[in-house]
Amino acid sequence: KVPVITIDGPSGAGKGTVSRALAKKLGWHFLDSGAIYRSLALAVTQAAVDPNDIDAVVKIASSMELEFETNDPPRILLNGREITDQIQSEECGSTASKIAAYGPVRQALLQKQRDFRREPGLVADGRDMGTVVFPDAPYKIFLTASAEVRAKRRYKQLKEKGADVNLERLTKEIEERDRRDKERTEAPLIIPDGAVLIDSSDLTIDQVIARCLDIVGG
Ligand code: CDP
Repeated sequence: KVPVITIDGPSGAGKGTVSRALAKKLGWHFLDSGAIYRSLALAVTQAAVDPNDIDAVVKIASSMELEFETNDPPRILLNGREITDQIQSEECGSTASKIAAYGPVRQALLQKQRDFRREPGLVADGRDMGTVVFPDAPYKIFLTASAEVRAKRRYKQLKEKGADVNLERLTKEIEERDRRDKERTEAPLIIPDGAVLIDSSDLTIDQVIARCLDIVGG
C-alpha cells in the first residue's frame, strides 16, 4: 500500500508549510485537504447558497471540479478558474469550518481526498487525515502550538499577502473556528491514535521538519 504521513492539527500550527516542505523533500504527493473545504466554501458563497442548506452544499461538493496544479507556487482551479489567493481569506476559512461540520458534506469530499494517495507516497494535511481519511497511515503527526502563537503566525501570513487584518479579531475568529472543529460530532479535531504530538510554539519550521523526517526515518 502507498505510504501516507498524516499531519493534523489546529489552524496556524504550521501544518501547511511543514507538510509542503516534507512532501518536497521526500518527493511525495501533497494533499491540502483544507483547500478542498475552502474551495467548496467559495463555491457555496459564489452560488449564493446558504452554508446550512446541507443538500445544496452536498450538490455543489459533488459537482464542483477542482484541480490542484503542482507548479511552484501551486495553483488551485475551481471549475477552470484560478482561486488560489481568494480562498486564503479568514472569511473563507470560517465558512469552510461551518460546512465542514456536516457529515454528508464530509462524505461527499472523502473520495476526492483519497484519490491523492499515489506512488511513491502522500503527505496529507488537515483535521481528520489520521482519524477518518487515512486511518491506516503508517505515520501520523499531530502538530499544534499555543493559540497566541498560532494567531500571530496567521496574522503575519495574511499581512504578507496584503490582506487587511486585525490581530484581535483574527484571534477571536481562529478561536471560534478551533472550538467548532473540536466540538463537532463529525470527524472532530482530535489527536489520532498512535500519532506523535509536536508542539511548534517554540520551534522553528526547520526544527519541526527535522522531527517529522526523523519520524518517517528519512
Ligand atoms: O489553514 P488553516 O489551518 O487555518 O485551515 P484549513 O486547513 O485551510 O481548513 C479550513 C477549515 O476547513 C478548518 O477550520 C476545518 O473546519 C475544515 N477542515 C476540515 O474539517 N477537515 C479537514 N481535513 C481540513 C479542513
